[in-house]
Amino acid sequence: MILKKEQKYIISPELNSLNRFSPKLKIAVLASGEGSNFQVLIDLAKKELFDIDIKILICNNKNAGCVKRATEEKIPYFICDESSCKNRDDFEKKIINKLIESDIELIIMAGWMKIVTEKFINSVRKKIINIHPSLLPSFKGKNPIKDALENGSLITGCSVHYVVPEVDSGELIIQGALAINKDENIQNLTNNIHEIEHLILPFAISEAGFTVRR
Ligand code: GAR
Repeated sequence: MILKKEQKYIISPELNSLNRFSPKLKIAVLASGEGSNFQVLIDLAKKELFDIDIKILICNNKNAGCVKRATEEKIPYFICDESSCKNRDDFEKKIINKLIESDIELIIMAGWMKIVTEKFINSVRKKIINIHPSLLPSFKGKNPIKDALENGSLITGCSVHYVVPEVDSGELIIQGALAINKDENIQNLTNNIHEIEHLILPFAISEAGFTVRR
């Protein structure tokens, strides 16, 4: 793919249509924040443009925007606040039990800001994918957009990858890239990255779902 001057971003691989799933692909979404990526999935499902059934939202913060969205859209949700759990193991166990009980096929981390352990990954026994706002393997961790800016990168973007025990690693499914303009500010860059995330996440789920059903 060649980045043409008039293009704002580049997405690779180039995926043009979402796979169809019959019955619908049963997913769980793990989110900690605003939930704009979650909303994209809700909207596509509502318009019947994507054959997904969002069985549950799992969130670690009762005040997060994603919980409000789930409430408004009548999507079941489960809040698990780590501070009210005995320890991290207890926190993860509660989430694992909920995921098993929810009868899902694929887990989507869409703004999930907690590191999951190897035990968690092995216990849920489902494929997990994660969206991250950098061009992995560059800028793993908590502040990838700020890190890319401060390190003088000229290009950044977002990635969706399979989750493995090593943080922000695992096989890449799709990436979107954009130029960092001179005098770029973090808010503008964040907004632009979000815009690309909203485009690529459904395609990543579609690809991962295809693998799960194969
Ligand atoms: C997204 O930019 C996502 O890539 C990022 O959190 C944001 C959530 O936005 N995830 C991570 O940083 C995970 N390491 P949203 O709540 O509006 O979907």
